[in-house]
Amino acid sequence: MTIETRGHLLGCISALVAISLFYAVSIFARFATADGGQSTEVMAFEKEWSDGPEVVAAGARYYSQSCAECHADDASGDEGPDLRRFKKSDGRMAAMIRNGIHHEMPPFRKKYSDEQIHALITYLRSLP
Ligand code: HEC
Repeated sequence: MTIETRGHLLGCISALVAISLFYAVSIFARFATADGGQSTEVMAFEKEWSDGPEVVAAGARYYSQSCAECHADDASGDEGPDLRRFKKSDGRMAAMIRNGIHHEMPPFRKKYSDEQIHALITYLRSLP
């Protein structure tokens, strides 16, 4: 092998390494934002909606229609967990209510609009 071809080979190999690194990084970047669906949902949810008493009352209505059977009338938990003094962000909570929880809780995205889900969360946040 002449020095020239060796240099050529090395050039090819480093080009290949560079290309695969590039792909590895871009694939990783895609996985790192795989939560993307959720984060856009979270952002879409954080609009400026009222949280006045009429919204709390509407949320209470939706809650007793759809959630009380599993989370108890006072949201203290039954089949589903206690929902009072909930630590997760509104966006995460909204995503759970929208999408449901596999085998545990049905999705509500067809039943309630984002604004109604906001009312549900506002109601839960208003609980002592
Ligand atoms: C069929 C029963 C059922 C119904 C109806 C139901 N849930 Fe749930 N929910 C569950 C169960 C069970 C879990 C716990 C799932 C788990 O953590 O694996 C849960 C979890 C949750 C969580 C996440 C709690 C946490 O600590 O992560 C939220 C928020 C929630 N429910 C809100 C609601 C709201 C709001 C409604 C009404 C729109 C509702 N759920 C209706 C059964 C139900």
